[in-house]
Order: sequence, then C-alpha cells, then structure tokens
Amino acid sequence: MRFVCPSFSDLYEPNVEIKTFPDGDSYVRVPSAGEARGKDVLLLNRLYPEQDSSIFQTLLALRAIREQSPKSITLVVPYLPYSRQDKVFKEGEIKSAKVLCNLLKREGVDLLVTFDCHFIKKEGEFEYGGLKIMNLSLNRNLVEKAREIAGEELEIMSPDEGANYLVEEFGGSSMKKERGDYREGKEAYREIKEVKMENDVSGKPVLIIDDMISTGGTMLRAVENVKRGGAERVVCTASHGFFLKNSLEKLRESGEVFVSDTIPTEVSKVSIKKHLEKIPGMEKE
Ligand code: R5P
Repeated sequence: MRFVCPSFSDLYEPNVEIKTFPDGDSYVRVPSAGEARGKDVLLLNRLYPEQDSSIFQTLLALRAIREQSPKSITLVVPYLPYSRQDKVFKEGEIKSAKVLCNLLKREGVDLLVTFDCHFIKKEGEFEYGGLKIMNLSLNRNLVEKAREIAGEELEIMSPDEGANYLVEEFGGSSMKKERGDYREGKEAYREIKEVKMENDVSGKPVLIIDDMISTGGTMLRAVENVKRGGAERVVCTASHGFFLKNSLEKLRESGEVFVSDTIPTEVSKVSIKKHLEKIPGMEKE
C-alpha cells in the first residue's frame, strides 16, 4: 500500500492531499487511509523546500495512516532536512537531526529510507534518534553520469573529508575544509575558512562530488582550487542540489553541474526512481 504526497508528482501519481488554510496552517487528507489496516505501508514525501511545514504535514499524514493500525510504515524522504545539525557546535544548541528522527519514530515510522544522509556517511541500515534508517547512496550513479559527460579518465575528488565516502571506491581523494564561527546576523552560517587541495590536477578532467550543494560556498571554493591547479575541465555534482544564493549560475560559469532529483532542479540528471523501485512494496503499484 503506497501513499504518495504531491511533492512526488514528478515520479508517482499522488494520492495524499496537501493544501494550506488561508491563515497558513497545513491541511492534510489521506483519502484511502482506511485501506492501510493491517498492511505494510509506504509514505513518500519530499521535505525540501519549505522543510518545516513539510515535516509537519508528514506528521499529520503519518497520524492519519497510523490511526488505521497498519502493520508497518516505511517513510521515503529523498533528502532529509536537518541532517547537518547532528553536532553541538556551541553550548545551548541541540542536535535537531535527532529531534526530527525522534518525532518520526514517535509518529509510527518503522523505517526511514533516504539518500546520502549527511550524518550517516555510509550505505546501509542504521539507527539514529531511535529511528531505523536505510541510507542509500547515489555516488555510483553520479559518477557514471559524469563519465558519460566528460569521459572515463576523470580525476574524482570530494571538497571535504566528510564526503570521502562518496569517492573512495573510485580511488578518489578529498580536499580539506575548515569552517570557522557563525557569521554575525540572523542567518546561521559558519564561514568557510579554507578548502585545501594537495593533488596535481594539471591538464586533467576533474569531477568534484559532494553530498549537497547548498549555498555553493564549498563547491565554489573546490572548483577554484581545481581551476587554479590547471584542470582541463571541471564537472561538479552532488546528490542534493539546493543551489541557494545564485550558486547554480556561479558554478555554471566554471564548468558543468548536475545533481540527482532528490530535490528536483533544472539540472537534475540522475533519478532516484530505480532505487525506489527496489524498496519492498514499491514495485507492486
Ligand atoms: C558539509 O559538510 C556538506 O557536506 C556540504 O559540503 C555543505 O553542506 C555544502 O554547503 P554549502 O553549499 O553551503 O557550502
């Protein structure tokens, strides 16, 4: 039994209604929730953009399904918001990634399926915040696509050591990134102090791969390094592309850019659909 939210309409026919009341409150209805009784249920929703309201809408949909006593609930969220907030950097902060996982568990999620989850950095099944998580990686699909674009001889790199797991199986290496303190002002953004590269990339085509491109700060610094090092061509990619602060345009000025459709964008060239079809229950409808 599969419940699909409208955020997934590019891949599957939605059967969950999500609207907004005039005051901004969320309206969620799962018309066929009654059929969930005793069944293994899948709920598919993208939680970005507008992550806070999307999370709340997911909790409402889960409650509507859970009230029908399904046998199990698997939640499919291609990009997990808050996954970068899994550490306390300053006293008084909380690990919001853990709070989100706690909430999903409490609302009846037996398994969360997601892609390249920032705080996991490995493929497989894990437990975090009391929630069972299946983390899938898109690295092989991204590398395959990059090789189609720029040839087999690509030098593969990640822009920081946190993303090393994406490149190690291809003999790739990682740059070293250091972040500083939060900037002044309302935006919670930790400055990038430096992104250091030691490789000789002169005359080579280079692929830079990360789990996400958010403001593009990391990727732009990595691209700068590679260009300064005399690379012949630069392709950049990530599983999740937010492309905030005009970063898509800026990256395009230096090379080719593509991402997956965990968040649909105009440069989403790798689809998660093949992976989703392998989830038990997905193949049937
Ligand atoms: C952080 O460690 C992540 O892997 C990404 O490198 C980072 O979140 C990208 O953010 P931004 O695009 O804002 O530099």
